[in-house]
Amino acid sequence: MLRDKAMSGLAAAGDEAALEAWRIEYLGRKGQVLELLRAIPDLPAAERPAFGQAANALKGELSAAFDERAQAVAQLKLAAELAAEGVDVTLPGRRPQLGRLHPSNQTLREIYGIFAAMGFQVYTSPDVETDEYNFELLNMPPGHPARDMWDTFYTTTPGLIMRTHTSPGQIHAMRALGPNRPIRVILPGMCYRYEQVTARSEMMFHQVEGLAIGRHITMADLKGVIAEFANQLYGAGRKLRFRCSHFPFTEPSVEADVDCILCGGKGCAVCKYTGWLEIMGAGMVHPTVLRNGGYGPAEWSGFAFGMGPERITMLKQGITDIRYFFGNDLRFLEQFG
Ligand code: DAH
Repeated sequence: MLRDKAMSGLAAAGDEAALEAWRIEYLGRKGQVLELLRAIPDLPAAERPAFGQAANALKGELSAAFDERAQAVAQLKLAAELAAEGVDVTLPGRRPQLGRLHPSNQTLREIYGIFAAMGFQVYTSPDVETDEYNFELLNMPPGHPARDMWDTFYTTTPGLIMRTHTSPGQIHAMRALGPNRPIRVILPGMCYRYEQVTARSEMMFHQVEGLAIGRHITMADLKGVIAEFANQLYGAGRKLRFRCSHFPFTEPSVEADVDCILCGGKGCAVCKYTGWLEIMGAGMVHPTVLRNGGYGPAEWSGFAFGMGPERITMLKQGITDIRYFFGNDLRFLEQFG
């Protein structure tokens, strides 16, 4: 009777506290088993040996059962602790934040690829320029009215300025790669203008300049290269149009348009209902510029062009404000993955 009760009580003890309570109840100094042993002197002498033996056997049995149960409970506790500490390999991982290329760089790389296929190498020239390279050698002596087209950031060093366009790279490329050698390069880089920042003009933006110098280069080559470029970048079958323009470093000068990529030429807000989008300035390299680069214009000729990758990206992606490009807003940048 006592034995059965003790055994079922032990089986129900699931933690250390319950075990200890059980131990005190049955095996403690005032526990029920010792109570039995203590009762022996009160029994008739004839019953004492058998009773004593039985009580001792019960004590031994309960002690052994207690040890066994205590070990099992300790093991359960350890298992629970290990499970709590362990690595749950079924938990989904945390996604790392992935970087991506800036939309301007994506467009730049597309441009590099198209011109690389036509044999144009990338040539880089400095962001900080001299007035001489940015203007004078490009056929704009001091006081030349065309300088007004490029509002300039001056430095505290006289004659040292931030380049307002990538065209000075033409002189660097000719002087470094020539003379007497044909050239086919594109010159990408950041340009800086002291301008009111608006949705359409930033004080900092990229340009990609192109320059081809050779012995028999004509305007037909310019047109062919631009047409190929426009078809690759804006999609096959683009119409191309040259409008007369003026730049001091090219003669003749043009501005190139493609039929609007959004409305196909019918007229929309993006093309301002003209059906055309201006994509670059271009022209045949002016004899003075050839000479400044070390090339004799009697033997050599060439074409040049300049375009803005941010403007191209805006047209292709329907972006209406150039300030997004360098506003460092991830909500904008993350859309171009
Ligand atoms: N440098 C001119 C600008 O910033 C763009 C340009 C026009 C570049 C005609 C050229 C060119 O090479 O031939 O507005």
